[in-house]
Amino acid sequence: MNLLILPCNPPPIDVIIHTFASNFPDMKLQFILPLFISLGQLAAQPVSLETASPDGQVRVRLSLGSNGEPSYSVSFMGKEVVAPSALGLQLRNHDMTKGLRAIGNRSFTRSENWKPVWGEVDQIADQCNGTVLELQDASGLRMDIVVRVYDDGAGIRYEFPENDKGRALIVMDEITSFNLTEDLQAWWAPSDWDSNEHTYRNTRLSQVDATSYLGDIEPFNQAIKNVRAMLTPVTMQSDNGYCISIADAAVQDYGAMHLEQGQNPAHLRARVIPGADNRVVATGRMPFNTPWRAILLEKDAAGILSNRLILNLNEPCKIEGDLSWIKPQKYVGIWWEMHIGKSTWYYTDKNTGKPVPNHGANTANVKKYIDFAAKNGFSGVLVEGWNTGWEEWFNSGKEEIFDFTKPYPDYDMDEISRYAREKGVKIIVHHETSAAVPSYVRQMPAAYDYMKQHGFDAIKTGYVGYVIPKGQWHDGQYMVNHYNDVLRETARRQIMVVAHEPTCPSGLHRTWPNFMAAEAARGQEYNAWSKGNDPSHELTLIFTRWLGGPMDYTPGIFQLELNQFDANKKERVRTTLAKQLAMYVTLYSPVQMAADLPENYEKRPAEFQFIRDVPTDWSDTRILNAAVGDYATIARRKKNSQEWFIGSMTDELNRSFKVKLDFLEKGKAYEATLYEDGENAHYLNNPYPVNIRKIKVRKGDKLTINLAAGGGFAAKLTPLK
Ligand code: NOJ
Ligand code: CA
Repeated sequence: MNLLILPCNPPPIDVIIHTFASNFPDMKLQFILPLFISLGQLAAQPVSLETASPDGQVRVRLSLGSNGEPSYSVSFMGKEVVAPSALGLQLRNHDMTKGLRAIGNRSFTRSENWKPVWGEVDQIADQCNGTVLELQDASGLRMDIVVRVYDDGAGIRYEFPENDKGRALIVMDEITSFNLTEDLQAWWAPSDWDSNEHTYRNTRLSQVDATSYLGDIEPFNQAIKNVRAMLTPVTMQSDNGYCISIADAAVQDYGAMHLEQGQNPAHLRARVIPGADNRVVATGRMPFNTPWRAILLEKDAAGILSNRLILNLNEPCKIEGDLSWIKPQKYVGIWWEMHIGKSTWYYTDKNTGKPVPNHGANTANVKKYIDFAAKNGFSGVLVEGWNTGWEEWFNSGKEEIFDFTKPYPDYDMDEISRYAREKGVKIIVHHETSAAVPSYVRQMPAAYDYMKQHGFDAIKTGYVGYVIPKGQWHDGQYMVNHYNDVLRETARRQIMVVAHEPTCPSGLHRTWPNFMAAEAARGQEYNAWSKGNDPSHELTLIFTRWLGGPMDYTPGIFQLELNQFDANKKERVRTTLAKQLAMYVTLYSPVQMAADLPENYEKRPAEFQFIRDVPTDWSDTRILNAAVGDYATIARRKKNSQEWFIGSMTDELNRSFKVKLDFLEKGKAYEATLYEDGENAHYLNNPYPVNIRKIKVRKGDKLTINLAAGGGFAAKLTPLK
């Protein structure tokens, strides 16, 4: 469905030259050709190409104006949702935003089903129509604009084919714009070049203003350069209901894209985070392509939660051979106890130079966690604070503070390796780099060999603090390339990765399925030592940050008041306990932590049973209801099983839903174990009561879900024999 619609429809210039020239003897050709080319450059021939999605609801018109400037517009369900908006790149020495000439175009379709290595569903349909507009600047440098139009949105990117007019390429700016047609409601976080760990706001586009974030002490490292700019993915909704999210997909060899506002606040423009000179957006070599600019379109908020555009815009899995080492899993760890002040990451007291009494990562404590994991069917134990360097951690600005092959004296790596193997559990090895990238890169091969020699095959990386080399931003090309290098290096060695403080994911887990999860947002940890996450936080994250890929949010806090080890500690988790359970279903990730301490789980075995039962890999997912920032109810079927799980959560308002169980198999009865907010439960003053009961259900039954303020609901549905 790719129509060339031009009123006079002139043939492309090279066709004209060809027919014209063939009418003249060879001799004259030398004069005529240059004449024609320069005429062609003065007034480009307008081009207008429309591409429609397979269902016809999404239409993208790609145009080249009379000054040779590319642009596009998008309509959805018959309404213009992106008005004509600029496209193009400013390269050093080549202006690829105007004065361009169309030298051809072609259309294509894609239609295939692919199976993710792990995921929310067994199979994903990749079906779209596409157009390539082939452009050239006056010097002959080629640039193609590629559009793919799916039923759930559109992707646009720039491609530079192999071209000897400029093998090296330096992108100074990308002007891709998104001229939205309404002052939409937006759920946004500020455009911080160095951190994506801010809270989210919900305002109209005209009210986007990050001034109040400036000077906020959390997160620790930050760089907000423009208070009228937003992080991506950003999700917006019109008063008529339709939802649009803008994100980047397949971000490789390029900075991450944030969005700035124009005079008209609904007119957004890409701001690709630059390198240390604060100018260059990317350097590369041809052939080169930018990431995709993804525009997700859905008729309602529920659609956003099952949108697959970003995954479809990413390349297929690049890891060859056996993939059985990539294992979705639940894990526990020596982690929360540091965040709430029970133990420390560091081994030595900096003032006295003596070992502290409560270093967390000691052999006996690790064994305790291994035992707990083995007993409860968890395959991973994260251990933080195991290696030397923590005494100097936290934005020391120094390189080489951590050694990733040198455990602290009380951490017996050989014994832990032996014990873990005996119990069938693996340590998730922590590599906090403190964002000192060259130090980490230098140590990576040895660090990976060391952990593999001890039988461990998963890392959690961390990049807290300002980046070294100084001046680079967490969201710039330098860091994007580093994070992606880590994925490739670890894939070669069969190591899974959970990355903290990375660039926001952009669907790369399709290509590198060893990329299990990333933080890239404000996780549960903020509840332990900051003003915390409000009850709408997770309900905003799943519609925004989560679109790029799974988050390591670390749910499962059972002791919601955090003064267990420090009577003066006022911080608390602002959810009910049932909502912590719901998160295992609603917050999709192939790795899920049971983040609280074993002793806190042992106090509540009945509630803990849900965490023991819930899987991390799924065959099917259904969104039963959803409103951005307010509530969501999701049902998922366990991978290769007939068991279903349901999670529902709400913001600070209590709600009641009736959901139809029409996803169950016909004719089967199921035993449903329900975990409901108990009587008078409330996230602020009564978060603990959970009412656990069993009922019998069948396909088509209506299930009533009552959620307390800040509450949640979880259920496990097992077919009865
Ligand atoms: C921040 C990470 O998000 C957290 O999970 C980790 O415990 C600390 N950094 C220390 O590396
Ligand atoms: Ca963090």
